[in-house]
Amino acid sequence: VTVTVASSGGHATSPYMYGIMFEDINQSGDGGLYAELISNRAFQNESLKSWSAVGDSTLALDTTTPLSWALPRSVRVKGGKGKAGLRNSGYWGIDVKHTDTYTGSFYSYGEYRGSFTASLVSDITNETLAITKIKSKSVANAWTKHEFKLHPTKSAANSNNSFVLEFRPSHETELKFNLISLFPPTYNNRPNGMRRDLMEKLRDLKPSFLRIPGGNNLEGNFAGNHWNWSATIGPLIERPGRMGVWGYENTDGLGLVEYMHWAEDLGVDVVLGVAAGLYLNGDVVPEEELDFFVQDALNELEFLMGDVSTPYGALRAKLGYPRPWKIKFVEIGNEDNLWGGLDSYKSYRLRAFYDAIKAKYPDIFIFSSTDEVVYKKSGRDYHKYTRPDYSVSQFHLFDNWTAEHPVLIGEYATIQNNTGKLEDTDWDAPKNAWSNWIGSVAEAVFLLGAERNADKIWGTAFAPLFQNLNNYQWAPDLISFTADPADTTVSVSYPIIQLFSEHRITHTLPAASPDGFGPLYWAAGRGGLGGGGGGGGGGGGHVSSSSSSYILKVAVYNSTGSEDVPVSVRFEGLPKGSPATLTVLTAAGSDPWAKNTPGRPDAVNKTIQHLRAGKHGEIDFSLPDLSVAVLVARGK
Ligand code: AHR
Repeated sequence: VTVTVASSGGHATSPYMYGIMFEDINQSGDGGLYAELISNRAFQNESLKSWSAVGDSTLALDTTTPLSWALPRSVRVKGGKGKAGLRNSGYWGIDVKHTDTYTGSFYSYGEYRGSFTASLVSDITNETLAITKIKSKSVANAWTKHEFKLHPTKSAANSNNSFVLEFRPSHETELKFNLISLFPPTYNNRPNGMRRDLMEKLRDLKPSFLRIPGGNNLEGNFAGNHWNWSATIGPLIERPGRMGVWGYENTDGLGLVEYMHWAEDLGVDVVLGVAAGLYLNGDVVPEEELDFFVQDALNELEFLMGDVSTPYGALRAKLGYPRPWKIKFVEIGNEDNLWGGLDSYKSYRLRAFYDAIKAKYPDIFIFSSTDEVVYKKSGRDYHKYTRPDYSVSQFHLFDNWTAEHPVLIGEYATIQNNTGKLEDTDWDAPKNAWSNWIGSVAEAVFLLGAERNADKIWGTAFAPLFQNLNNYQWAPDLISFTADPADTTVSVSYPIIQLFSEHRITHTLPAASPDGFGPLYWAAGRGGLGGGGGGGGGGGGHVSSSSSSYILKVAVYNSTGSEDVPVSVRFEGLPKGSPATLTVLTAAGSDPWAKNTPGRPDAVNKTIQHLRAGKHGEIDFSLPDLSVAVLVARGK
């Protein structure tokens, strides 16, 4: 296949081409990225889930003395003769490392003059891995906060460990506890922060945006159940949490401010999803009641961006964040073309939000949450979960779309296998447990179709992002994990996104071939390295790219053949002898079904070749079927 890349023409490429999308699905927030180790720490689950009694004591839920308006339930521990207390099994275990310090706290209620003991204990051997004494400040008729640190003396062999909080009751001692919390060190040492290994995986993707809190969980199942930003800010004792739409409670410890810190830590811009009055049960907020929601979105923006003279800016400062954040992108709702939301979205909901936000924040760019409805200069959000062949068939999808309403591909993935016919997803059939290589290469083809339409596509994000392997509602996912960081596994789609993301085309160039697309698909342009997060950093042996570099991104997808594809790329104007680096991703053993799983995370091979341009600026190489590659060439 011969491809000629012109030295001029084309379009500027969105700097947001590769990003991430997050919603709390698959225990990806609580029990996942949010580093809290204690499950059901404040009984927001309305049960004693994850808790058990120590010794002869008994546990009961108690609502007679609320810790706060937001946390009305506590656990009452009635002592026996010896030690009393409670034990928490964590989110399917607790990882314990002797190199880490664990920071804990709890509230207690009731007269007690002795000491508490907090410890981390192996569930298998009962060995104590870390222990500390905390002098009681507990008094009758009031809640008191206790804080402590745990320094394990050894690392646990695995994550089958629990947290134990004990006291020595005199005969009738009955104490209540609430908001029992324990954090390992977090990414960038943020209090109330994020799990390090998972953040590192995100950082290494070099993303440039974070769409939060996207997905169904923003919308809520029924009236009042939407993600409510104002209930996710402030001290944890003022966060009631809510039953998320994916069947488990959200503590909302990972709230709006934590989202902003997350974006700051990755150096990315936020696409802020605001609830738009459509619930997953199909209920829609009527036009005459929508003002409340619109005003709520304005309040949220003022909270994030307002100066301290504004009511919500002042609230932010009062909570300890005087410096405003900047929101450049807002998305109105999520998939408002579904659940019967289309008509109302078209007729009044999108318009109401758009006009009100633009009136106050003219610089904010607004995405509608569907590609079917746009208003004024809004962008759109296109979601696609499909099969490999279908994904490839979408390579040309955006060719004839208008640049007037740029597209965020806010969710995409291949989730089922080919059937022999060109078929889209069958939502009644099971989805794949893991991304497989043929599907990931097909996603790459779709991404190239997006990237070569640089004037129309704003950005892309795989979804869902995370999966806790102990409780998930949706697979396949990009990053899977358990309580044990040794299990953290990226899917075979991850290295492709990473490769494309770290080689950013800043300006696409026309790239033509007499051979046409398929089995080779490509996008080409001038480029640089890195996205928002982390940016820069070429890596050993690479030809470092700059705006004078040429980049060609390719995927070979030919689900019926297996021949290598000879490629000759000519970059117009590239001098003879210019150095080039070709990075090629293939599946181990050329297995189309190759997948990464915990303990077997190496299904994708990466090779790097160093090449030189020939007499006419041409660079020759060959690529196997089902491969993804990036070629970077730089004039001498
Ligand atoms: O990513 C899983 C779900 O798929 C999202 O919640 C929703 O937006 C989409 O339908």
